[in-house]
Amino acid sequence: MYAALKSIGSYVPSRVLSNFDLEKMVDTNNEWIVKRTGIKERRIASEDEATSDLGYKAALKAIERADIDKNEIDLIICATISPDYLAMPSTACMISAKLGLKDVMAFDISAACTGFVYLIALAKSFIESNTKKNILIIGAEKLSSITDYTDRTTCILFGDGAGAAIISATEDKNEAIVDVMASADGNYGDLLITPGCGSKNPIRKENLEQNLQYMKMKGNEVFKVAVKTLTSDVVAILEKNSLTSKDVDVFIPHQANYRIIEAVRTKLDFPVEKTALSVEKYGNTSSASIPMAMNDLYESGQIKKGDLMLLDAFGGGFTWGSALVRFAGN
Ligand code: ACO
Repeated sequence: MYAALKSIGSYVPSRVLSNFDLEKMVDTNNEWIVKRTGIKERRIASEDEATSDLGYKAALKAIERADIDKNEIDLIICATISPDYLAMPSTACMISAKLGLKDVMAFDISAACTGFVYLIALAKSFIESNTKKNILIIGAEKLSSITDYTDRTTCILFGDGAGAAIISATEDKNEAIVDVMASADGNYGDLLITPGCGSKNPIRKENLEQNLQYMKMKGNEVFKVAVKTLTSDVVAILEKNSLTSKDVDVFIPHQANYRIIEAVRTKLDFPVEKTALSVEKYGNTSSASIPMAMNDLYESGQIKKGDLMLLDAFGGGFTWGSALVRFAGN
């Protein structure tokens, strides 16, 4: 059996937080944010919208487009760093309940911005080992719930949203996900971290007073490793599969920063029109960023059945990975 990506869907909350809105909240300005990041606006979920609500709406689209009955889904995996609940139940379980499913294996993974590439690696393994047949994978984030809106170094970057895909078993090799490479190095953990509310710094008054529940990032140090790793990731997976960037129809890098995407794109000589760029309107949505970008390209007709997509991600952990995925949907 081969694993095939049969559909893509996404959902973004309606509320827009622009750079001009942020100017009123912290000491920053639109010009700085656009020049350093390429971000103009991001979406923010409402108080009563949880990560699972975003993931559920993205999942509905992916299921409809895969042309399967939801009862055919036999595994749900959600990648998120902003789950509905800190420990349990998982966001995947919440999405499963919202879909009306009752007897389906469901769990979350935490791989920060590399979440969607990890999901593809997992789904591919479950299918190739003949364990599951139709897997719903979701990258969903309500990053606004773990963002400190008094910290100008992080609050300008992040947004909320979700993307989902159906990965199904197929006997047709031409539809198959070609390859996934994913890795991690926990020695860089403190460069991009949410220090509080876990077992290390539990939910206690003194930790909350220090705002440890929010994301902290040493942006400049992360930037340098991100460019290097995202570039070497792509070179490695193309070489391993005896391909060049000319064989790739669409390049979908993690949408963290326009300058990072540009640096990688230029080094690898990908044409700009083949490269996904949605960071401008959504900011960094972590595990949701790649499927949201893929969905936008699909909806605008830039991804068609049979196209070879190259995914490339880097995030907290550090985690990183790349994937060569043929679009097997309609
Ligand atoms: N507005 C205005 N000035 C600012 C702001 C702001 N919002 N934030 C920082 N500055 C100032 C700094 O204080 C600094 O001032 P100084 O020179 O007087 O000290 C100056 O701007 C430059 O700051 P840097 O941090 O060096 O800016 P840099 O060019 O590195 O851009 C950024 C910062 C956008 C965060 C960039 O480093 C970045 O994108 N890093 C990588 C992010 C990333 O890829 N993360 C991985 C995935 S995320 C995940 O896994 C959840």
